[in-house]
Amino acid sequence: MSSNITFCDLKGKCILSRKYRTDPLITKESIDIIPFILFGNKITKSFDNSFVSDEDIVPGTITNPIITHEGIHYLVLQYNDVLAISLLSSLNDEKVDIFEQFQFLREVCDVFDTYLHVLNAKHLRENFIIAYELLDEMCDFGLAQLSDIKMLKNYITQTNRKFLKSVEKRKDNLRPPEQLTGTVNWRNTGIKYRKNEAFLDVLEKVNMSIDSKGQVQTSEILGQINIRSRLSGMPDVKVGLDDKGLITGNKIFIKRQIENNEESHDSIDSMDYNDTSNSSENESGMILEDLKFHQCVKLSNYENNKTITFIPPDGDFTLLQYRLNCSSKSLKPLILCETQYHLHDGSRLQIIVRLKSNYKKQSIANNVIIHVPITNEYDTPSFKHNHGKVKILADEADSSKNYLVWKLKNLSGGKDYGLVAELQLPSTNALQKKKNEYYSKLPTRVEFQIPYYTTSGIQVKYLKVNEPQLGYKTYPWVRYITESGDNYVIKK
Ligand SMILES: *[C@@H]1O[C@H](CO)[C@@H](O)[C@H](O)[C@H]1NC(C)=O
Ligand SMILES: *[C@@H]1O[C@H](CO)[C@@H](O)[C@H](O)[C@H]1NC(C)=O
Ligand SMILES: *[C@@H]1O[C@H](CO)[C@@H](O)[C@H](O)[C@H]1NC(C)=O
Ligand SMILES: *[C@@H]1O[C@H](CO)[C@@H](O)[C@H](O)[C@H]1NC(C)=O
Ligand SMILES: *[C@@H]1O[C@H](CO)[C@@H](O)[C@H](O)[C@H]1NC(C)=O
Repeated sequence: MSSNITFCDLKGKCILSRKYRTDPLITKESIDIIPFILFGNKITKSFDNSFVSDEDIVPGTITNPIITHEGIHYLVLQYNDVLAISLLSSLNDEKVDIFEQFQFLREVCDVFDTYLHVLNAKHLRENFIIAYELLDEMCDFGLAQLSDIKMLKNYITQTNRKFLKSVEKRKDNLRPPEQLTGTVNWRNTGIKYRKNEAFLDVLEKVNMSIDSKGQVQTSEILGQINIRSRLSGMPDVKVGLDDKGLITGNKIFIKRQIENNEESHDSIDSMDYNDTSNSSENESGMILEDLKFHQCVKLSNYENNKTITFIPPDGDFTLLQYRLNCSSKSLKPLILCETQYHLHDGSRLQIIVRLKSNYKKQSIANNVIIHVPITNEYDTPSFKHNHGKVKILADEADSSKNYLVWKLKNLSGGKDYGLVAELQLPSTNALQKKKNEYYSKLPTRVEFQIPYYTTSGIQVKYLKVNEPQLGYKTYPWVRYITESGDNYVIKK
């Protein structure tokens, strides 16, 4: 079988090369010589045994997919601007099935194409570590192994180069996927990290509709707990939440929806529950509308005693997602923005914006952006403000609509800032007046991010890791962030 698989660019320059077994005939030289074999006019060895000198190479199309040189067969397959080449020594002639070799090269290229989005020389250079990893999994000692993409995804869960570098490769990674052995099909054995860490991100997106008096009319929170797991072995993980009973206190009936799910990665099992009326409103005024767990969560434990336990997949995944509705009574708006329009002398429009941050003084919102709808017919705008930057931008979808956009890099809690904008209106006919009235009634939209903060109040109390065989120490990291959804608006 194949002794070496090499990927070259169209000039025959090696991008990566993987040796599968020792073959006295196949050396580094056999790879270096590829440009000449493919395109060179003459092959002459220089004194220092080096062949390569760019001038002698005349790239062209590959006319002969099988080239034999000094006892080595080069099987060449072109895929976009990449040449996949399998090197075989003629010593093994009797065992070679040329057709199978080409088919394998083709499959490797298809897998690379999937992983790198498109297989080309640039992507291959940028992702050569992944490519090596894939080649390792697809070939064992030059024997084509599984190259079914679905199966490979069980082996190589990361398409992030930094991650791959940090995963210590172990030979016993090479074993049948759990689908075949019927255990944990989202995780391989033999995963090893020098430092065992788990990073938890609690991310909440908040939509709020706030009336002109600053009262919340409706509010929705879409939350998720994302985990980046860098843990060795087969760890049993338990996450404790301080959630005021919102998630763990709910008497919801859970049904396992997907018993044999085919998509083992990054999919989230839905859980149906009825009886939402039973999960009455908490004193915080929040109602759990929807809850989804990653398939790794042991639902039986959750059903029995509301503990969230799981064997995590390696790398990034979403542990759970929740959607909360909040009743208006209890929830205070995080950021308030009062907007007033004053038309003076029929031709001078003054817009006064008052921004208030309602969260704790210690918290800081980042990237606060306020969008105040205005007309596109105006002149000589002027702005008075002490904080942030102000611009007028056109609506992407509707060019007759503009926004007064006020951006603040950061906004601490308990602040009260003002902006006064003045626009000259060129014509003041009845239609114009109507238009301005129309804009003055549209809601003001606000974007923001508040780190170290959750609107629901959900907190991670602990993350416990137990790896029965390795018994290592774990470093858990937790971050919180609240972000505006696409629909955080203040009405007028
Ligand atoms: C917020 O509202 C937008 C637009 O209606 C919607 O697409 C988005 O899913 C909502 N997000 C949340 C957190 O409810
Ligand atoms: C509401 O929250 C409190 C803690 O603040 C909790 O003890 C209680 O069980 C919750 N009620 C419901 C109905 O979930
Ligand atoms: C929760 O229930 C599971 C069995 O479903 C049990 O193994 C586990 O010890 C229980 N945990 C607690 C904290 O009671
Ligand atoms: C939760 O909010 C959504 C969107 O605002 C609404 O359609 C739904 O009826 C609300 N559910 C409850 C129980 O209030
Ligand atoms: C807020 O932004 C201003 C301007 O960019 C910067 O000078 C200040 O240090 C920032 N404050 C905090 C607390 O990040």
